[in-house]
Amino acid sequence: MTVSSTSTDLESYLQSNREERLASYTEFLRIPSISALPQHSGDCRRAAEWLAAELRRLGAEHVEVSETEAHPIVYADWLHAEGAPTAIVYGHYDVQPVDPLELWESPPFEPVLKADRVLARGAADDKAQIHMHLRAAEALLATRGRLPLNLKFVFEGDEEASSPGLDQWLEDHRDQLQADLAVISDTEFFYGNLPAITIALRGIMYAEIDVVGPPFDMHSGGYGGVIQNPANALAWILSSLKSPDGIVRIPGFYDDVVPLTDLEREALAELPFDEESYRQTLGVPAFAGEPGYSVLERRGARPTLDVNGLWSGFQGEGSKTIIPGRAHAKVSCRLVPGQDPRRIFDLLKAHVATVTPPGVTVEVRSLGNGDPSLTAIDHPATQAAARALEATFGRAPVYIREGGSIPICASFENLLGLPVVLLGFVQPECGAHAPNEWMDLGNYETGIRTIARYWDELATSLG
Ligand code: BES
Ligand code: MN
Ligand code: MN
Repeated sequence: MTVSSTSTDLESYLQSNREERLASYTEFLRIPSISALPQHSGDCRRAAEWLAAELRRLGAEHVEVSETEAHPIVYADWLHAEGAPTAIVYGHYDVQPVDPLELWESPPFEPVLKADRVLARGAADDKAQIHMHLRAAEALLATRGRLPLNLKFVFEGDEEASSPGLDQWLEDHRDQLQADLAVISDTEFFYGNLPAITIALRGIMYAEIDVVGPPFDMHSGGYGGVIQNPANALAWILSSLKSPDGIVRIPGFYDDVVPLTDLEREALAELPFDEESYRQTLGVPAFAGEPGYSVLERRGARPTLDVNGLWSGFQGEGSKTIIPGRAHAKVSCRLVPGQDPRRIFDLLKAHVATVTPPGVTVEVRSLGNGDPSLTAIDHPATQAAARALEATFGRAPVYIREGGSIPICASFENLLGLPVVLLGFVQPECGAHAPNEWMDLGNYETGIRTIARYWDELATSLG
């Protein structure tokens, strides 16, 4: 493709307002929109309002901050490309909690620029990528007065908390959300900053297990040996869920797993990835997980179970001799195509009931679900994204399976019948959910060009 005058205009427009763009991105990062913590619900609303104002400013229409059972969803559209395809652009403005705060080099909501990286909570996941979409649309509208296709923006504020109200919102707005595809920029490049299109995301089942014993903490000498200890009981329950070789022991857990085909295994094996150097990068003595599967398979294409939090009894220094009255664990399973998080929850609950020792009661509560998803490599919209990535980053993308979850991906596919393209730009080592999260400004800048280019490519290939 030759460089047309419009793409030159776009480039000089983007070069001329780089500083202002960075200032706007960091302003967005200053809003501590942590969805999981009720004390930040005002900040989530502020982030939603901030996005709505930006969308109005750049020329989007029907801008709406709509209420859900949790944080607001921001909707806006630009629908003047008659006869051209329509894409839904999805992102999430909420971020993960920041603890442990002492491990941050600088305060998480005071972004700093360091060696071409922006450091802040949300710098990568997912505020950068929302901002890139805003700025790509802005640059196209500013230089051409129009977009090559129709866009509908959907930005939610509960993705990091399993999006409890989202499916209902999608159902309620079915007509408004008619489109040809959904584009989600909330995934990563591959190792070595290799452009990547994610084709599979794992689903998730998240639960809390609460074990209740005596009405209060009791003397462990006076009662030890005669009353059941909830912490011991919980340890017993947890140890029955997964063996040290990584195999999940909940009966029925693997029943519905769709196995990888030989072709899919070959594709994963061909990715430029070295397990040993990956191990060294992570600083772990050895990998764990199911025998018979490569690290990339275990991470992206096999289901698993992890304890995410565990608490009971005395946590202070020194010793305190008690039998704690309560013990709690947060447990999540990452799921692969075929598995239904609701069924996995039922299996977990039933299994826990069978292994709970006498003398305590156990409650297993659901804290959220997300379905796994698989998108099509050969869909013209995926291939258009590959061309846009290659044209802007100079390398053809690889196709990867990610271990993380984006619940709306399956909802777009199953509830609205839309193909989904997972076009993310952050580096895999970006520290998402961890202290010192960062975004590479090179990827941020080039990614804006990729998005603009993608809209042109889509208008041509789907139009
Ligand atoms: N952006 C991530 C999902 C992701 C992670 C994609 C890694 C690709 C690679 C997303 O914000 C996320 O963290 N999702 C949660 C979902 C959960 C809370 C339902 C996750 O995966 O833990
Ligand atoms: Mn995300
Ligand atoms: Mn996340």
